[in-house]
Amino acid sequence: MVIYFSATGNTEFIAREIASRIGDECLNLIDRIKNNDLSPLLSDRPWIICSPVYVCEMPRFFTAFLRDLPLEGCKDVYFVFTSGGYAGSSGPLGKSLMRRKGMTFRGYTEFVMPRNYPVSKKYDMLGKEQTEERLKNAYQRIDEVADIIRDGGKLPHRYVFFLEKVVTLPFNPVWCSKVFKADDFTVSDSCVGCGLCAKLCPLNNIRITDGKPSWGSTCTHCMACLGNCPKEAIEYGERTVNKGKYNLKRYKYYVDELKGK
Ligand SMILES: Cc1cc2nc3c(=O)[nH]c(=O)nc-3n(C[C@H](O)[C@H](O)[C@H](O)COP(=O)(O)O)c2cc1C
Ligand code: SF4
Ligand code: SF4
Repeated sequence: MVIYFSATGNTEFIAREIASRIGDECLNLIDRIKNNDLSPLLSDRPWIICSPVYVCEMPRFFTAFLRDLPLEGCKDVYFVFTSGGYAGSSGPLGKSLMRRKGMTFRGYTEFVMPRNYPVSKKYDMLGKEQTEERLKNAYQRIDEVADIIRDGGKLPHRYVFFLEKVVTLPFNPVWCSKVFKADDFTVSDSCVGCGLCAKLCPLNNIRITDGKPSWGSTCTHCMACLGNCPKEAIEYGERTVNKGKYNLKRYKYYVDELKGK
């Protein structure tokens, strides 16, 4: 069974494409995450866990959820990460997480996808051509990855050096606690009170009051709210203004083209 979390659509896309190629079930975990639903999942085929990368790891809330989620039946687990180009320690951490659950780690792979984080001071959002290029490159690799999983092989991955772990592992919690704040979210008058931002927030950090969202203090900067708002009504301080917002649905025309539709 393919299981995933996705805030802006990249991981969902890869997860669904892999599932359709290997002819397996594909489950979006968002409702379970939001409701802290830890009822067991059962699969007699390998688990394929798909996740974005946040600060060189899987999102911390997702790691915690996976730690507690009973995965019954098949013991084999693959990880598929989608990133902006550097998955860091995600693979080694996934491996040790699964070992602690008594599962068998079968390797991981990383798909480099379009950037989705306009809040970043360091990285600009990608333009249309670069975004399409990344989608094309990723799409072309899906068959290869699905074939390995279908054949029960091990997913090959690059070696993560000790120094990378030494740098990224302590950096992640510090960054998450210092930077992932919700204080600077604002909403403009174009908000129509549809409630989508609240529905998509994995941490239930958004409440709709009098037809407008307000943010609590638990945020992981996943960009599900800001990236998916149909009215582009959400900003994060001045940082995101005119920077471009991302969700994969904006590129549906291109994904359809890749699929030959
Ligand atoms: C808060 C945050 C942190 C991120 N950190 C990294 C990172 O450390 N390395 C990286 O390559 N990409 C990073 N990214 C980019 C995402 O991993 C990438 O765009 C991913 O495909 C998004 O998946 P989704 O559309 O399924 O949510 C980050 C994105 C966000 C929102
Ligand atoms: S998704 Fe956008 S339009 Fe809908 S409630 Fe949230 S801010 Fe308003
Ligand atoms: S409030 Fe934070 S955690 Fe919730 S959807 Fe928005 S960015 Fe993600």
